[in-house]
Amino acid sequence: MTAGTELPQILVIDDEIGPRESLRMLLKPNYRVHTADCVEAGIKLLKEQNPDTIVMDIRMPGVSGIEGLRQIREIDPHLSVIMLTGFGALDTAKEALRLGANDYISKPFDAHEMQQVIDRNVERTRAHRTSEHAASEIKELNNRLLQQLAQKERLASLGQASAEFVHDLGNPLTIVWGYVQLLAKRLEKSDNSQQDASSVKELNIIEQNVRLCRELLTMWQSYGNVEASPPKMISVSGIVREVLKGISPMASENGVELKSNICEDSCTLLGDALQISRAIQNVVVNAVQATIEKKGTVTVTCAQKDFYVDLRVEDTGAGIHPAQLNRIFDPYFTTKQAKSGTGLGLYITKKVVEDHSGSIKVESTSGVGTVFTIRLPLQNAE
Ligand SMILES: Nc1ncnc2c1ncn2[C@@H]1O[C@H](COP(=O)(O)OP(=O)(O)OP(=O)(O)O)[C@@H](O)[C@H]1O
Ligand SMILES: [Mg+2]
Repeated sequence: MTAGTELPQILVIDDEIGPRESLRMLLKPNYRVHTADCVEAGIKLLKEQNPDTIVMDIRMPGVSGIEGLRQIREIDPHLSVIMLTGFGALDTAKEALRLGANDYISKPFDAHEMQQVIDRNVERTRAHRTSEHAASEIKELNNRLLQQLAQKERLASLGQASAEFVHDLGNPLTIVWGYVQLLAKRLEKSDNSQQDASSVKELNIIEQNVRLCRELLTMWQSYGNVEASPPKMISVSGIVREVLKGISPMASENGVELKSNICEDSCTLLGDALQISRAIQNVVVNAVQATIEKKGTVTVTCAQKDFYVDLRVEDTGAGIHPAQLNRIFDPYFTTKQAKSGTGLGLYITKKVVEDHSGSIKVESTSGVGTVFTIRLPLQNAE
């Protein structure tokens, strides 16, 4: 539908050539005029041209103007229709108004009056079309908001469930933690055979990760309490090293080569170490998971540039299909089905990165591999 700045369109339907042509001459300077000599031809033009106003004679041989009006109303209930009536035929004019005409003018018509009536009716149609357009936009917006609301409700109920989950997980984790300590002490005391040395190393990694789990639980328990963990000076490169240490056994067990190039600078910023750690972990775990089938490589680089640090996680895995690329940060979007994915990993990562005023971007080619780049500003460092 056109309701813009172009010339309004008028459709004149009249069997008599005299009024038809004089209307064409009169209206030509200000409107695009279409003419038809019968209702059938008029209806055809209405469908093709979508005019802003119709001027139609009531009395025509064959299909009458009244019948024409009925047919027009079936096609467009809101289009302005002005009826031309014979002089003194007030009753037919009234009948036409009752049947949905918007105005009437008696023949012979006064040019000035005709112009005014047409202007008014063009305005009327256009105002209606604009409001119809606005209404459909509002409807669309409303639908979008309802979808967002449904997603928020899902997140809220997940929040409730995870509060219980966090609570329940606390006890067994404390037990694991206790036994890890016990084992560590026992190994410390035993005579230092080579086998024990490597067990100590492995136990260290277990201990570190159990500690991480406990810290994560504490963080989740205090979730929503903003004062719970004030930002501290943290080292991004240090965190990356820790994350890689934890993931490396999982990678090698699955035949994935994990390479890294971490800069010597500490890359400090003011933030939350635990949050940054899980943000990075999500991306690296995804890269390893995507590379398992091809037994490929995951390369993690961490480089400091001027006022920011760039963390690049590149894999030679399955890649992401272009149609899915703009959905991967949505909560619950996963292609891992019931196997493992909740689809919250990248959603959390993006949120954490943005909470630290950073950005995350992704480039991927299906079947070739994927690169995630996380950029975090260091300007907070002192
Ligand atoms: N490196 C990658 N290579 C290929 N696909 C990826 C990669 N990283 C993410 N994806 C795609 O993005 C989806 C969403 O990732 P996200 O981490 O949010 O959830 P998930 O890994 O499926 O589940 P979760 O992290 O909760 O276990 C994945 O299911 C996968 O399809
Ligand atoms: Mg994931």
